[in-house]
Amino acid sequence: MRLDKFLSHTGFGSRKEVKEILKKKVVCVNGKPEKNGKKSIDENKDAVSVYGEVVNYKKFVYYMLNKPKGVISATEDNLHRTVIDLISEVDQVPGLFPVGRLDKDTTGLLIITNDGELSHQLLSPKKKVPKLYQAKVAGLMTAEDVLVFSTGVTISGNEHCLPAKLMILETDVESETTLINLEIVEGKFHQVKRMVEAVGKKVVTLDRQSMGGLFLDSQLKKGSYRELTDEELASLRN
Ligand code: URA
Repeated sequence: MRLDKFLSHTGFGSRKEVKEILKKKVVCVNGKPEKNGKKSIDENKDAVSVYGEVVNYKKFVYYMLNKPKGVISATEDNLHRTVIDLISEVDQVPGLFPVGRLDKDTTGLLIITNDGELSHQLLSPKKKVPKLYQAKVAGLMTAEDVLVFSTGVTISGNEHCLPAKLMILETDVESETTLINLEIVEGKFHQVKRMVEAVGKKVVTLDRQSMGGLFLDSQLKKGSYRELTDEELASLRN
């Protein structure tokens, strides 16, 4: 790994900020001062210090992405841009992947990490991790739909869903549209869209707002990401 990337990953700022630190000749690799950010180091073996303090390498990284429309939840694709392509070069580490999938036209919270164990915990059907979506629906959702979802709706004719919380936020009788929040504890393929279809309506836009205890940062623009804070990571682990 390049020294500038290592320093950026371990909390010394953007590549520009790291350049400034390197210029000050306060960074040492195995005891020798080093100014060249391009220098290749072994993050598991070489001892890097800044102002005499040894810097420990973080094995795992955790990013919160506000996924925009039009990119796919995969690590690579020959045709389309992926969510991993949205992570800037300096923040790329080997083995990054999205935790679960959002459809190409779905926006909102997506966790990007290289921590397979955490991902497994969050996606395991046994854990029933809640996921909150906001959707604009063509058609008027009703109190009966709330009841059907709360007891477990059947989708595509024979797939039974676990009970889900449907909240009707706004109904617009004129345009026959409804704004809803829907909390589900599973991750079936196109689940929200198929649940809404099962009661005779259609999802027009879909945005994920939370997963487990983690809420999408409202300051994060579509296509932007940031590292999770220690508190956010702890709440996710809980
Ligand atoms: N449900 C869907 O239908 N699509 C998504 O992207 C996520 C949940």
